[in-house]
Amino acid sequence: MTLKNLFSLKELEIHEIVRILDDAQAFRDGAAVPNFTGRIACNLFFEPSTRTQYSFQVAEERLGLRVVSFDPGLSSLTKNETFYDTVRTFDSFNPDLLVIRAHTRYYDELSGLVRTPIVSGGDGTGDHPTQSLLDLLTIRQEFGGFEGVRIAICGDIRHSRVAHTNYGVMQRMGMDVCVSGPEEYMEPGLRFMEFEKALRECDIIMLLRIQHERHGGHEGMTDEQYHERYGLTKERVERMKPGAIIMHPAPVNRGVEIAGDLVEHPRSRIFKQMENGVYVRMAAIRRSLEGELWH
Ligand code: NCD
Repeated sequence: MTLKNLFSLKELEIHEIVRILDDAQAFRDGAAVPNFTGRIACNLFFEPSTRTQYSFQVAEERLGLRVVSFDPGLSSLTKNETFYDTVRTFDSFNPDLLVIRAHTRYYDELSGLVRTPIVSGGDGTGDHPTQSLLDLLTIRQEFGGFEGVRIAICGDIRHSRVAHTNYGVMQRMGMDVCVSGPEEYMEPGLRFMEFEKALRECDIIMLLRIQHERHGGHEGMTDEQYHERYGLTKERVERMKPGAIIMHPAPVNRGVEIAGDLVEHPRSRIFKQMENGVYVRMAAIRRSLEGELWH
């Protein structure tokens, strides 16, 4: 039996992505949820996380699972145990699900060696599949579909797994995708649009946090200068297209990529994204636990 892991959305056919979104929407609309009482999930977050980690936990509990949460700082990682041995340890407990977030593309070294299905909570600068699923659900709720919806993903593209997963999957879904922000954070091969033009023309402005922990920060630019040049300010929000929305995976750095007052602006869907996160994670977990039975 092949394990229903979820490491990257590239592994999924479009119809499988749509099935997860449909399940998530149904859960949100009050449909009965599968009952996995008696099953155990182990959440292994080797990188810090608020939303992803705890919304996975809420999703697991809504499905009846019991949850074991790993704390790297209190674990044998502090005794030089490796990532691989840590994961194999949890796998040997025979849980029903592992949710893993780590600093690198961790899953290659686990391939074929772990018998528990794994859902990724993010791998370094690589992929963040459930974040993109919740972004897609939010977009579908807003625009009724994906075809031709224009999005500008703005900020630290190069170090953002959210940008990487979204750029690819949103193009596959038929969206018109571009990136914007300081040149040093752009990536070759991605379609670039000036921030002012993106504000006027795009249906979605998706802002990203500068991933300071992955590099030295924006050389030569203070937070204030970044805000002035590339941040969403009260003045800039006025120039957004009618009906356009603001998205952000969070954590938000208020006053840097977005003015604090705009986090809960009528155009902002930031907290709606978080709410959708629970439902898409429920749907993704269902897929992994149902295995071969999931179509
Ligand atoms: C993002 C992440 O961890 O990749 N946050 C999230 O999961 N919602 C974005 C970030 O850390 O900036």
